Amino acid sequence: MYLKNIYISNFRNYDVLNLTFSPSINIIYGNNAQGKTNLLEAIYVLGMTKSHRSSIDNTLIKMNEKVSYIKGVLMIEEDQKQLEIGLSKSKKLLKLNQSEIKKISDYISHMNIIIFYPEDLDLIKGGPSIRRRYINVELSQLYSTYLDVLNDYNKLLKMRNDCLKQNIKTGYIDDSYIQILDQYFIEKASLLYQMRKKFIDKINHYITEIFKDISGLDNFILNYHTNIDLNSDISYKDQLVTKLSKHKEVERKIGSTMVGPHKDDIQFLLDGKDLKFYGSQGQQRLAVLALKLAEIKLFQDYKKDTPILLLDDVFSELDFIKRNNLLKHIGKNAQTIITTTELELLDHNLINKSNLIHIHDGKLISKSEV
Ligand SMILES: Nc1ncnc2c1ncn2[C@@H]1O[C@H](COP(=O)(O)OP(=O)(O)OP(=O)(O)O)[C@@H](O)[C@H]1O
Ligand SMILES: [Mg+2]
Repeated sequence: MYLKNIYISNFRNYDVLNLTFSPSINIIYGNNAQGKTNLLEAIYVLGMTKSHRSSIDNTLIKMNEKVSYIKGVLMIEEDQKQLEIGLSKSKKLLKLNQSEIKKISDYISHMNIIIFYPEDLDLIKGGPSIRRRYINVELSQLYSTYLDVLNDYNKLLKMRNDCLKQNIKTGYIDDSYIQILDQYFIEKASLLYQMRKKFIDKINHYITEIFKDISGLDNFILNYHTNIDLNSDISYKDQLVTKLSKHKEVERKIGSTMVGPHKDDIQFLLDGKDLKFYGSQGQQRLAVLALKLAEIKLFQDYKKDTPILLLDDVFSELDFIKRNNLLKHIGKNAQTIITTTELELLDHNLINKSNLIHIHDGKLISKSEV
């Protein structure tokens, strides 16, 4: 799929903007604070109904205005879909092909977006909960059943922890109750693990090659990190049973569950070394990018369509060669919309092939003014 055009009004620092995009590479360029990220954000909001960088919708509305409006035409092969979103301080109005959509989940399934933005580096630099959240969000988009399993697991985990905490307070624990809980807990934990492991395996099927293409370095993979031995002949479930019984006394003392997918993590390994501790900033950036590009492939496999790729400020910290490797790589796969402050640093052939959008102070500068 690709976004053919967008119309925005009273969004962030934009009054009115009407733009047509190319189905391949689009480069939004301009100085700092002119509205490049805001434009990507408008595209993201059009598809996902909320911002990737702010949870407060009101900040999206242009200052001193009451209503923000975004409209876009999406092309899916020969089909055309019109998406519209209106934002006021208290309400959000969604329309698909001019009919109002009440349920957000019915709306966001239409436009698939993969975004890379500077804070994504936290995926490597940050703590494990950021990576678990990421994998949960991505898997929920790919398989509709994942979210149900995750919700069930989280409910059971909470019940289990409540029970363990009760033990601290009262010194009493209902063993038969916790045994029953554990049967379900182990069942859901195992399902969650299997789905996550499958996701990581599929990503690994693509990511080594992609990382090599853009960085020139081989042997990059993701590793699903869990304190269950994945190379053992003993099943995940049986190992979890053993671990739970091993930690029984400690869990009852601290009042929380010590093993299970809620403790797992993902490692970004280059030649076996974790990029979190050994990677340069540029390598970390390329690793997250490779992950996003691998996800495009997964989307193509599962959804039989290509999502739209939004890359915000992706070039800073990449040298000339890596920048152009990246551009060569992305042009082939998906409609890509990139922001940059430094157009001059890109290869001329690539610039000539791309649709250039020059933004200054929330306005489009026409080609003759460039
Ligand atoms: N609700 C709003 N109303 C009006 N202006 C806003 C609003 N929210 C943000 N802005 C303005 O938008 C501008 C920032 O735009 P944006 O983040 O898109 O910049 P950018 O071009 O991506 O810059 P950089 O290259 O530094 O990333 C700032 O001047 C900011 O004051
Ligand atoms: Mg920006």
